[in-house]
Amino acid sequence: MHILGISCFYHDAAAALLRDGELVAASEEERFSRKKHDSGFPKLAVQYCLDTAGISVGDLDYVVFYEKPFVKFERILTTALQVVPKSWKVFGDAMTTWLLDKLWVKNIIRQELGVSPERILFSEHHLSHAASTFLCSPFEEAAILTIDGVGEWATATMGHGKGNTIKLLQEVRFPHSVGLLYSAFTAFLGFEVNEGEYKVMGMAPYGEPRYVDKVYKLIHADADGSFSLNMDYFCFHHSSTQTYNHKFLELFGEPRNPDWYFFTEVSGYPSYFGDKPSNFNALAAKNQYYADVAASIQQVTEEIVLNMARSLHRETGLDKLCLAGGVALNSVANARIIRETPIKEVYVQPAAGDGGGALGAALYVHHCALGKPRQFLMSHAYWGKEFSQGEVNDFARGCGMPYQTYAREEDLLDRVVEELRAGHVAGWFQGRFEWGPRALGARSIIADPRRDDMKEIVNLKIKFREPFRPFAPSVLAEAAERYFDLPNAAQHYPARFMLYVVDVKDGQGAVLPAITHVDNTARLQAVHQAESPLYHRLIDRFGQATGVPVILNTSFNLKGEPIVTTPANAFHTFSVSEMDTLVLGNCVIRKPS
Ligand SMILES: [Fe+2]
Repeated sequence: MHILGISCFYHDAAAALLRDGELVAASEEERFSRKKHDSGFPKLAVQYCLDTAGISVGDLDYVVFYEKPFVKFERILTTALQVVPKSWKVFGDAMTTWLLDKLWVKNIIRQELGVSPERILFSEHHLSHAASTFLCSPFEEAAILTIDGVGEWATATMGHGKGNTIKLLQEVRFPHSVGLLYSAFTAFLGFEVNEGEYKVMGMAPYGEPRYVDKVYKLIHADADGSFSLNMDYFCFHHSSTQTYNHKFLELFGEPRNPDWYFFTEVSGYPSYFGDKPSNFNALAAKNQYYADVAASIQQVTEEIVLNMARSLHRETGLDKLCLAGGVALNSVANARIIRETPIKEVYVQPAAGDGGGALGAALYVHHCALGKPRQFLMSHAYWGKEFSQGEVNDFARGCGMPYQTYAREEDLLDRVVEELRAGHVAGWFQGRFEWGPRALGARSIIADPRRDDMKEIVNLKIKFREPFRPFAPSVLAEAAERYFDLPNAAQHYPARFMLYVVDVKDGQGAVLPAITHVDNTARLQAVHQAESPLYHRLIDRFGQATGVPVILNTSFNLKGEPIVTTPANAFHTFSVSEMDTLVLGNCVIRKPS
């Protein structure tokens, strides 16, 4: 039984293929098309899934789309008609794009893949989210919480999963949406919506949540876990370009100019921004205001999520929780659930956003529609394409730069450890690439986290990220509790996928300055031997050499580009950046000094 799940036409198109309920392959389209957040039909990702399974389209039993286009279109039209004439532009745009294209998904799938219509099925957006987490979780029974911008009508659901069934108990409907509220502030703070939400989360610890009261003028939380927005402050329901309106601006002032550098007194002025401006103090004070706004929206979002988690616990009596939807990528909120609610265990799979809908749609049909029992647990993220040692060696031979091949793994790891200890920044390209937005040791840039200046070095050489964006640590799962405040760290699935932000233990921030955020937290990846054997051995080797089994890990890409997929992508990133070393399988390429 082969079931292909597809998500597309909003953001982060993806495909995922199940064989008899086991995941064979999954990827976002952007990894192949090289278009960041590619939302188009995931033709390349589908082809990759079929190739990996060694099957053709004719072998697919079902193709499942992750949402219902007609219901979504109904929501867009209904909403637009309620606010006519303000919405005439949205209405016109919707009519054009939906009637010409998006509405006819069945036809598009039929044309693109050549699948007969009776094999094409549709799930619902939040059911796909719910299925994408519960049905590949380790839990036989759990509460399920999905929170995002919007699907068809739902923007958040609270549900219950047991065996191969999922029941959604309660939903919050558009326009009331935590995801869209967070996105409104993402835009206000000068970042791109659906891309810059991480930046708001990273900026928040530089601020104080001074404006929580003001944010609560925009959203009201109810005792049953639900919430509603005060629509006087928003215009996303009748505008396709603007999320907030003049009343929002009266409350929060001028939006932050996207072209401004962000820095505060605490962050200082990083050297890669150039010369420190003479009016640094005045600019830092201005930025401080926006950091305070970021802290405020982050705190309110966390409180809304905690309120839903507590309510779901009361309702179901269950202390295991599966999370999905874009808001489930808010790793600060996720960790607070464990610390501050009666929920004892949380599961999130790495592609918790809309890309993960492809996986959820396929799982939903296999288990809930066809009634097949569950057996698949997603315990790692390595579902992308891999390149054989032969392919990697051929590439290295033709790359035009000197390289060394290591026949013995120990020698390769010793060489990499030596590079890191020398303060070099290395590209690490191994095995199948990761599912979801995080690099987890298959397509990572790695460095020594013990150096005070390493954050600045990685930014200077490759990333050019805003100074408020922290780099993450990869730590041996068995050593995680030595450095991070996460009891039983090895048991927490979200920690495998960098989906918890936790405190760095007292005194360890000084040991790991490059990965410790300004508020003494870190977004750790607990690395398990069984799922990431080579990466685990590398960190272990680094630990033996330095006494600290932790490596700085950031995604292997240039700013604004998707994470690298092929050896050629990796080599390009290596060539045009100032990365020192590239490790492709067992080949090490080093730039001439
Ligand atoms: Fe979603």
